[in-house]
Amino acid sequence: MTESPSSRLAEPLLDVRDLHTSFPIRSGLLRRTTGEVQAVAGVSIALHEGETLGLVGESGCGKSTLARTLVGLNRASAGSVTFGGRDVLRLAGAERRAFRRDVQMVFQDPFASLNPRMTVGELVTEAWEVHPGLVARGDREAELHRLLRQVGLDPAAATRYPHQFSGGQRQRISIARALAVRPRLLICDEAVSALDVSIQGQILNLLTQLQRDLGIAYLFISHDLAVIRHISDRVAVMYLGRIVETGTRAEVFDRPRHPYTQALLSAAPVVRPWEHEGRVVLPLEGDLPSPADPPTGCRFRTRCPRAEERCSVEEPTLVVRGDHPSACHFAVDPGPKVLAEARVGRLR
Ligand SMILES: Nc1ncnc2c1ncn2[C@@H]1O[C@H](COP(=O)(O)OP(=O)(O)O)[C@@H](O)[C@H]1O
Ligand code: SF4
Ligand SMILES: [Mg+2]
Repeated sequence: MTESPSSRLAEPLLDVRDLHTSFPIRSGLLRRTTGEVQAVAGVSIALHEGETLGLVGESGCGKSTLARTLVGLNRASAGSVTFGGRDVLRLAGAERRAFRRDVQMVFQDPFASLNPRMTVGELVTEAWEVHPGLVARGDREAELHRLLRQVGLDPAAATRYPHQFSGGQRQRISIARALAVRPRLLICDEAVSALDVSIQGQILNLLTQLQRDLGIAYLFISHDLAVIRHISDRVAVMYLGRIVETGTRAEVFDRPRHPYTQALLSAAPVVRPWEHEGRVVLPLEGDLPSPADPPTGCRFRTRCPRAEERCSVEEPTLVVRGDHPSACHFAVDPGPKVLAEARVGRLR
């Protein structure tokens, strides 16, 4: 392809359209299905080669289910997923194996994803048995050492076990393991959420460097706005199974339109208040409603300070307002009046 990797004209690497994933609710002695949890309720996102899409939203909003559906760990109930032009939900055989190689995941808890009885060397090279053509047998030791160095570990780590490492180092092991199969997309699901802030920074910088060197795309999932802001090129904000706002990092963080994004941002601790002049302060109260029984109309209406009658009957769709899409009937640019309230809000 002659187009640059970031070109919006290029076909996306990953193209998700109107994806739904539901889980049956079973109850009673006979475990009859009595309802369903709509964990992912019509999500469309696109991700281009070599870019980072940050997916942010509160715990329980469906981020992990979306990720797991993309890699086939959960079954989609409707919608389509295209990766490199191929229909992922219908892949089989060799094509499916190639896809499973192209898309790797890094999870929050490396203890759960790293077998404690395997050495780091065994863990990182395990997939080469499944994909023997990837690295010739004679080159494997050198390639293992190169991978460990690439993620900032000493090659001597190869003979040790995961429990002998700190949380940050274990995450480096997980990343090396993912890189070993030369993926085109890495899905990081809360990959730094369990780490101390300083270690988080180191792992985020490592991921940024790896992306620069290898051109991998990231779907970076986190409930932490600061982390998403640090790493993302583009951002999608998820609420109760749906994307409510999406745009470039600057569009979403500097000019949020959806009341949920505005509330999330105003709830986040302000590290450098002078950079947030005019921040809109909106309260975010109450809990996420159950995805088994979502509110009618706009899913955010039970917590939205701007809700009006129309919101309970008509579900808003993602429409470009200002410079990027948001799903709110009354999505507003934070105007002077709101800004004035925001300043008062901050003084309180
Ligand atoms: N296997 C499952 N069976 C039933 N419900 C599930 C299952 N996995 C997730 N859920 C539900 O789906 C919703 C979204 O969960 P999840 O995708 O883990 O959210 P997040 O990653 O944003 O915290 C939650 O209500 C959760 O309880
Ligand atoms: S559509 Fe209504 S309830 Fe939903 S976010 Fe907009 S104002 Fe709030
Ligand atoms: Mg999750």
